[in-house]
Amino acid sequence: ADLGQQREILKGTQRRLYSVANTLGSSKVTVLGAAGGIGQPLSLLMKLNPRVSQLALYDIRGGPGVAADLSHINTNNTVTGYDPTPSGLREALNGSEIVLIPAGVPRKPGMTRDDLFNTNASIVRDLAKAAAEACPDANILVISNPVNSTVPIVAEVFKSKGVYNPKRLFGVTTLDVVRASRFISQVKKTDPTNEGVPVVGGHSGVTIVPLLSQSNHPSIDGPPRDELVNRIQFGGDEVVKAKDGAGSATLSMAFAGARFAESLLKAAQGVKGVIEPTFVDSPLYKEQGVDFFASRVELGPNGVEKIYEVGEVSPYEENLLEAAISDLKKNINKGIEFVKNNP
Ligand code: NAI
Repeated sequence: ADLGQQREILKGTQRRLYSVANTLGSSKVTVLGAAGGIGQPLSLLMKLNPRVSQLALYDIRGGPGVAADLSHINTNNTVTGYDPTPSGLREALNGSEIVLIPAGVPRKPGMTRDDLFNTNASIVRDLAKAAAEACPDANILVISNPVNSTVPIVAEVFKSKGVYNPKRLFGVTTLDVVRASRFISQVKKTDPTNEGVPVVGGHSGVTIVPLLSQSNHPSIDGPPRDELVNRIQFGGDEVVKAKDGAGSATLSMAFAGARFAESLLKAAQGVKGVIEPTFVDSPLYKEQGVDFFASRVELGPNGVEKIYEVGEVSPYEENLLEAAISDLKKNINKGIEFVKNNP
């Protein structure tokens, strides 16, 4: 072929490689509550992610220690730790693209996620205030429970500061999806990595709605189905019970949180067709008074790209959805009311 043509092709390849090198590893990620049971393994997984250039770790205690430890890992990004000094939180958040929030107390045996509300609502509200000021355009990923209420709390805080962007706020429900594919694979004796169960609704008890009719095993029925649905809804309790007072899921949650963050980074860096179920400001059930709802969401450079409808469900799942809607409405209002009364 013609030499000039070859040179043009080479130049094009060079440009593409350059832009890949530029986007890979260009993102700052902040973890708030980084020294906790979830925070530490989650920070480790983010340290191993080549899309992350800067990792900022904040906690009311122990942030710098975790950062010093992780900073010795020979992956090509920097880690900094912050204490709750007046500027610590702000510096951790400045310029951040993704803010992961696992700050707050976890459950003990016998507790529901809603029992955590009194403690965690104010923690999340205060961290949201700082984020709204320091990095209003960041993607905010809320892990702190009760997610059904803490996500509306973040929304209200951002609204009060005039910087709310519904496309950038996510309740992390990935663990429910991870559990669903693991649990169904145990029943069906299959490879869990090949299983996909859409889980919609919210993130606690009956608001967790697995859509088995849309899985690889739509014909599962009767008691095996009921058992499986119950295990997906209350899987978190198995861990709380086994840890016997020492907390709830941390390692599987860190895995799930890292998966969701990776999906967002991938989408931000130009990969198309990235879909994750997540709890977002959603039009799907607004008419019924539910402003936030988890369903499959396509992610993109602007955060939420497309919210998928729930789709066709069985009459059994229709009942599950009804129960979820009623609880969700209460959980969401509780968050909104909290910010109104405790701005
Ligand atoms: P943990 O108690 O081990 O860690 C929480 C960390 O948050 C601690 O290091 C604590 O110092 C820190 N912290 C407390 N107040 C803070 C503040 N104002 N600013 C910054 N950091 C603060 O708890 P764990 O096990 O890591 O759980 C954290 C949260 O995640 C809990 O609310 C838990 O319910 C929730 N969770 C959510 C899941 C989900 O699927 N979305 C799954 C499992 C847990």
